[in-house]
Amino acid sequence: MTCTPAIDAIASARRLVSFSGAGLSAPSGVATFRDTAQGHWAKHDPMDLASPVGFARDPELVMTWYAMRRREMAAATPNAGHRALAAHPTMVHITQNTDDLLERAGATNVLHLHGTINAERCHGRCGWRSPIDLADPPGVQSCPGCGHHPSRPDVVWFGESLPQDIWTAAVDAIEQSDVLVVVGTSAVVHPAAGLIALARDHGASVIVVNTDASAADGLADHVLTGSADTLLPTLFPH
Ligand code: APR
Repeated sequence: MTCTPAIDAIASARRLVSFSGAGLSAPSGVATFRDTAQGHWAKHDPMDLASPVGFARDPELVMTWYAMRRREMAAATPNAGHRALAAHPTMVHITQNTDDLLERAGATNVLHLHGTINAERCHGRCGWRSPIDLADPPGVQSCPGCGHHPSRPDVVWFGESLPQDIWTAAVDAIEQSDVLVVVGTSAVVHPAAGLIALARDHGASVIVVNTDASAADGLADHVLTGSADTLLPTLFPH
C-alpha cells in the first residue's frame, strides 16, 4: 500500500483537520470501545456506565469504572501518532477522545466533542467544574459547588448533548477544511461521525487511517490500513 497520494494531499492542504477516535490512543495503552474483545463495550453495556440513567441507577459502579479508566490514562503517554498530529502548526484536531494525550503531545487546537475525563463537573450543571488528578480519581461525591447534585466526569454520556460551543467550532473547521484525516474511529457514533460526510459535502479530501475497516471507508478518498502510531508519522513527516 502506498501512502504517496495521501502524503501529497496533506502536503498541499491549506486547511487540515483531524478527526480522531479511540484508535489514536490505543497504542498508548488506552482501551477502545467496540473494536476488540478487550473493548469496553464488549464487556459492559454502555448504558450502564456512560449514561445519566446508568449513573442514577448505580453511581458507585459508574465512578469505579471511570476511576479505572482515569488510572489507565494517567499511566499512558502520547504515542508517535499524537506527536505527528501535534507537530502540525495549524491543524485543527476534532476528537471523540476524552484523554489529554494530544495536548500532552503539544497540540494546541483540540476540540473535545465528547468532553474531557480529566475533569469533574456538577451533574446538575450549577457551574462547578474542576480538573482532577487522573492518578487519584474521585469516587461518588456531592458537587462541591452546590451540594445539591452529585459531581460526575466532564464527559458527554449517551443521551446527553455535545457542548454547543465545541460542536459549532468543529462544524466551522470541517466546512472550511480541504483535507480531513480520520484516525482510529469506527465512525458509528453520531452526531460526531456525521462530520466526515459534512467534510466531503464541502469538497474536502478524506483520508482514513485505521487498523481495520470502518464506516468512514465509504466516504474516503484514501483508506490507509495500519496503526496510527506508525502511519501518521509517515503522513506528517516534519
Ligand atoms: N490505529 C488506528 N486505528 C485503530 C488502532 C490503531 N492502533 N486500534 C484500533 N483502531 C481502530 C479500530 O479499528 C476502530 O475502528 O479504532 C477504532 C475504535 O473504534 P471504537 O472503539 O468504536 O472507538 P470510537 O470510534 O472512538 O468510539 C466513538 O463511542 O462509546 C463512544 O464516546 C465513546 O467517543 C467514543 C465513541
